[in-house]
Amino acid sequence: MAFPPIMVRPFANRCLKTLIEAVILLITGLSISLSQEHLQKYYPETDTLVLEKLQRWGDSKFGLLMHWGTYSQWGIVESWSLGSEDEPWERRSDSSYTEYKARYQDLIKTFNPVKFHPAQWAEAAKAAGMRYVVFTTKHHDGFCMFDTKTTGYRITGPDCPFHSDPRANVAKEIFDSFRNRGFMIGAYFSKADWHSPYYWWQNFATPDRNPNYSIQRYPERWNQFVKFTQTQIDELMTEYGTIDILWLDAGWVRTKTEEEIIREKLHAEYAVFPQSQDIDMPSIVRNAREKQPGLIVVDRAVPGAYQNYLTPENMVPESTLPYPWETCMPMGTSWSFVPNDKYKSVRELIGLLVDVVSKGGNFLLNVGPDPEGEWAEDAYDRLLGMGAWMKINGEAIYGTHPVLPHREGNVRFTQLADGTTYVIYLAEEGEISPPEKIRASLLRPADGAELTMLGSDLQLAWRILEHGFEVDIPKVFRERPPCKHAWILKISRIAVSPGGKTMK
Ligand code: GLC
Repeated sequence: MAFPPIMVRPFANRCLKTLIEAVILLITGLSISLSQEHLQKYYPETDTLVLEKLQRWGDSKFGLLMHWGTYSQWGIVESWSLGSEDEPWERRSDSSYTEYKARYQDLIKTFNPVKFHPAQWAEAAKAAGMRYVVFTTKHHDGFCMFDTKTTGYRITGPDCPFHSDPRANVAKEIFDSFRNRGFMIGAYFSKADWHSPYYWWQNFATPDRNPNYSIQRYPERWNQFVKFTQTQIDELMTEYGTIDILWLDAGWVRTKTEEEIIREKLHAEYAVFPQSQDIDMPSIVRNAREKQPGLIVVDRAVPGAYQNYLTPENMVPESTLPYPWETCMPMGTSWSFVPNDKYKSVRELIGLLVDVVSKGGNFLLNVGPDPEGEWAEDAYDRLLGMGAWMKINGEAIYGTHPVLPHREGNVRFTQLADGTTYVIYLAEEGEISPPEKIRASLLRPADGAELTMLGSDLQLAWRILEHGFEVDIPKVFRERPPCKHAWILKISRIAVSPGGKTMK
C-alpha cells in the first residue's frame, strides 16, 4: 500500500514563519521558562477515593521502583538508544542505526530471566521498610512486561524464550508477590511506544522521541494509537488485581496548545515536528478508575488534573513543596541494570530518605534487575542496612509531616499528627556514633515533655538555650549507638524556642 508523501515546507517559508512566530511570542510575553512554571502547578484532586489513597500513599513514604526489560541484557540506558537525538544516553554501539534497531528488537529472542523470584524481592523490600512498588510494565521501547493481547512484542509472546515459563507474565507475578505482603501497587507505563507503527510509522525515519508523522494529516493512524494505548491500560486495570498507582511516563505525549507548539518550534530540544499528542487522558482515567476506584494517576510532568502527585527525578527539592510529591532515584547510577553498577551507601540512602521525608515527600528508590531476573548483591545489602535502621526509627518516617525549620545543618525534623516531634541527626561519612550534644535553635521541648533516643527508653535531660535547646547524649549511646547512620531524638511535645519562629 502506498502512502502519500509528507510535504516539507520550503526552507525560506519556514524561516519566515519562524520569524513571525517569534514576534507573536514576544508580543504575548510568553517566556521560555513557562514550562518550568507549569511543572510547579498542581491541580488538587476532588475524588474522595483518590484522596484517601493519596493519603495512604503519602503516609507510606518509602517505595521501590524497578526498571526491567529486554534492554537489561545490554546494560544500556533502558530504551533510549533507539532515539536519534544524539545525546550521550542514546549512544549506540553500531554505526548503522537500522542494524542496531533490528538487533535491539531481537533482544526479545534471548530474554530468558529464569532466575526470576519476585517473592525474594518483595521480602527484601518489605524488610527494608518499603510500602509500595512501581514496576515498568512497558518502557518507551514498547516491549510489554505483561501479557497484552495488543502486540507480539511482549514477554509472553512466542518470540520470547521465557514465554513458556509459568512465571512469564512477570508484571502479574511481581504485583501479586508485593500485594500479598501489603504493598500498594504501581504500574509504570510509557505513553510513548517506539515499537507501535501507530507511534513510529515505519514509512518514515524517526528523528526524535515523538510520533514521526503528522497527526493532523493522518488522524486515523493516531486514533489507532489512542485505541492501542487505551486497550493496554485497560488490560492492566482489569487483569492484575488491585492497582493503586498508574505512573505514566513520557511527559512529551500530551495535548499542547497552539502557543505551546509555537514555543516548541522555537525552543524545543527534542521535537523536529512539534505537535499536540492528545491520547485522550480524560477517557483513559475515567475508564481506569471505573475498574480501579480511587486509582492515583501520575501523568508525569504534565500539568493538569491527572498528575495526582509530582515526581522530581533523581533530585531532592530544596525545601517543602505545596503539593504531594515523590523523589524517584536509582540505588545505583542507572535506572536499568548495568554490570558492576556503583550503589549508594546505606548511610547515603538513609540520609536521602530522611531528607525527602523531612520535606514532606516520598522516596521511590529504584533497583534494576539483571537479565536473568536477579538483583545485584549490593541491592540486598543496602536494603538490609536500611531495614535495620527503619526497624528502630521507622516511627519518625511513616505518617509524618514536615515541621519548621525542616533542617539545621545535619539535623532534620519530622512530626506526627499528635505533635510528637523527631529530631534526626544525620551522620557524616565515617561518623559511627552520635555526637556529644545535639542542638536545635528554632524549637525546644515543651515544659514537662519527654525526650528519648529511638531504640531506647532512657529519658534524656535537655537544656534550654537562648535559641532552642540542646541535649547531652549519654556515653552509653556514644559507645553503643542504638543504630547506625542517623540518630533520632523523640520529643513528646514541643514549644516555640525563645527567639525562634512560630512552629507549624
Ligand atoms: C527518565 C528516564 C527514563 C526513566 C525515568 C524514570 O525519564 O529517561 O528512562 O524511565 O527517568 O524516572
